[in-house]
Amino acid sequence: MLKLEKLSFAYGDLKVLWDVDLEVKQGEIVTVVGANGAGKSTILKNVSRLVKPGHGHITFQGHDLRKLASHEVVELGIVQVPEGRRIFPEMTVVENLRMGSFVKSTRKDRERNIERAFTLFPRLKERAKQLGGTMSGGEQQMLAIARGLMANPKLLLLDEPSLGLSPLLVKSIFEIIKEINRQGTTILLVEQNVYQSLRISTRAYVLETGRVVLSGTGAELLDNAHVKKAFLGM
Ligand SMILES: Nc1ncnc2c1ncn2[C@@H]1O[C@H](COP(=O)(O)OP(=O)(O)O)[C@@H](O)[C@H]1O
Ligand SMILES: [Mg+2]
Repeated sequence: MLKLEKLSFAYGDLKVLWDVDLEVKQGEIVTVVGANGAGKSTILKNVSRLVKPGHGHITFQGHDLRKLASHEVVELGIVQVPEGRRIFPEMTVVENLRMGSFVKSTRKDRERNIERAFTLFPRLKERAKQLGGTMSGGEQQMLAIARGLMANPKLLLLDEPSLGLSPLLVKSIFEIIKEINRQGTTILLVEQNVYQSLRISTRAYVLETGRVVLSGTGAELLDNAHVKKAFLGM
């Protein structure tokens, strides 16, 4: 579905990605795990065209993403939920969700998608009229994901959805990601929470200072000596 081949990227003179090869097949949850500053968000920004294209190839269902603008990438069905849950603080939950169906072709599904979001996140239904900015961190993260789903993504890009959440909420966010995937959305996740994210991953890549140093199934990487030592404190 999505393929990165020898992707390299620099911010000005600062090179941050080196020959990254990565593939996401339809139906998978693929995770890139790595420490702060490893280049995880930069990979997602290359896919969603939020930065100027680096070197290498990025293809999605046969389309060369390097040639497209960010809104065209969204129209192909790739939706990114940015890091830090950038919701609209002065808008209510429902208004935030409505903003998510900005792609014309998804507007007809708007009401159905709001119902779907409320089923996935009952907490949002209870708080439908509350202003986004007054919700807790976990609720804002739920809202950010729910808003992303309003655009009917084929591929959902999630940037550190567990960041800053309590352990209990972290667990439920990963459960919901699994459920979204079960309902048919392919997922590319980037995370520092290595243990929880590998547990739900079909496959995963370990990124260290801009290079993929390991890849395998979630289970294989959880059992890998380097992963255990570097990320799991074992
Ligand atoms: N807009 C930017 N301009 C310059 N350097 C950046 C910018 N964004 C990120 N970086 C740098 O690129 C590297 C990778 O960042 P990032 O992809 O955000 O890592 P991660 O998401 O894994 O924490 C870091 O060294 C970071 O400081
Ligand atoms: Mg990041």
